[in-house]
Amino acid sequence: EFAASLEKAAAGAELTRKDIINLLAAAPGAEEEALYRLADSVRARVAGDEVHLRGVIEFSNYCRRRCYYCGLRADNVNLQRYRLMPEDIVAAARRGAELGYGTIVLQSGEDPWYTGPVLAGIIREIKKLGVAVTLCVGERTRDEYALWREAGADRYLLKHETANAALYNRLHPGMSWQERLQCLQWLRELGYQVGSGNIIGLPGQTLEDLADDLILLRELDVEMAGLGPFIPHPATPLGGEPAGSLDLTYRVVATARLVIPYAHLPATTAVGTLAPNGRQLALQRGANVIMPNLTPTRYRADYQIYPNKICINEGPEDCRHCLEGMVRALGRRLGRGPGHTLKPLRVQ
Ligand code: 5AD
Ligand code: FES
Repeated sequence: EFAASLEKAAAGAELTRKDIINLLAAAPGAEEEALYRLADSVRARVAGDEVHLRGVIEFSNYCRRRCYYCGLRADNVNLQRYRLMPEDIVAAARRGAELGYGTIVLQSGEDPWYTGPVLAGIIREIKKLGVAVTLCVGERTRDEYALWREAGADRYLLKHETANAALYNRLHPGMSWQERLQCLQWLRELGYQVGSGNIIGLPGQTLEDLADDLILLRELDVEMAGLGPFIPHPATPLGGEPAGSLDLTYRVVATARLVIPYAHLPATTAVGTLAPNGRQLALQRGANVIMPNLTPTRYRADYQIYPNKICINEGPEDCRHCLEGMVRALGRRLGRGPGHTLKPLRVQ
């Protein structure tokens, strides 16, 4: 079953749900190796050897939500909450531009302190630096999304977290899967390059659910997809659950490269947290992007969405040099320019 589905993928045929499940179920050893080899060759063909760096500024850890897995949930009183002022966010972005990053990602908890106009002002300042801007600030109104797009934001990341609507609703009190999809639809209509993605190894999640995640990403026709393992955080309701499997995560990333070949796929920080060579392996198994931390060091420890997050004591320059070395050691090149969507290549 695996071999037939892999052959279909190699021929570029549209994969069914069953095919995707077969690939995700690749057995350790020869099957996994064959899956990784195909994903790496598709990555080389569609994305080339350039690894794009996206500098991430975690500008506020205030969050109005209570997601069952996340260390920033409003109920967690064991962390110091912080907010960067607009001029400090712009300064961090300037540092990122100086380090050569073509994209600045503005990420935070869901923090209404940054109103539509306040964030629009920050975006306008950062756009003057000549970089692409990606927003990752959660669910907001359509008008706010429109305002930020007009201010110059290029992309928006909003993970669907899981395509299993019942599981989604269980893990996100006061939120709904329908509203999540509505936001993704608005972002699409407004002309953003859209990123979504899911957590791998959530309690109660099945291989079928993960196949549905990839099918949803294909239906959304996303420009990027973040796929990372679940890591239990002790200060959350899921603190006692086991972590997601790293090997399953690699199989999901590799299969994603086959299901949505033209999407940017990051080697996530969560993968790097579970294994010292996790991001390197992800880059060799389908991923083509990496997201260095640009947050001023003094705030990093308080942005632990999961525990033992890497780069807590490093500074922006450290991560820049570390990743340049990593990319070179893999025989790849640093991406030049903004690293926009790969989709225009698809029609050729
Ligand atoms: N383990 C793995 N990923 C997590 N995220 C949040 N908490 C965890 C966790 N405990 C991910 C979610 C969110 C992104 C910012 O981080 O997918 O969208
Ligand atoms: Fe931060 Fe390696 S990416 S130190």
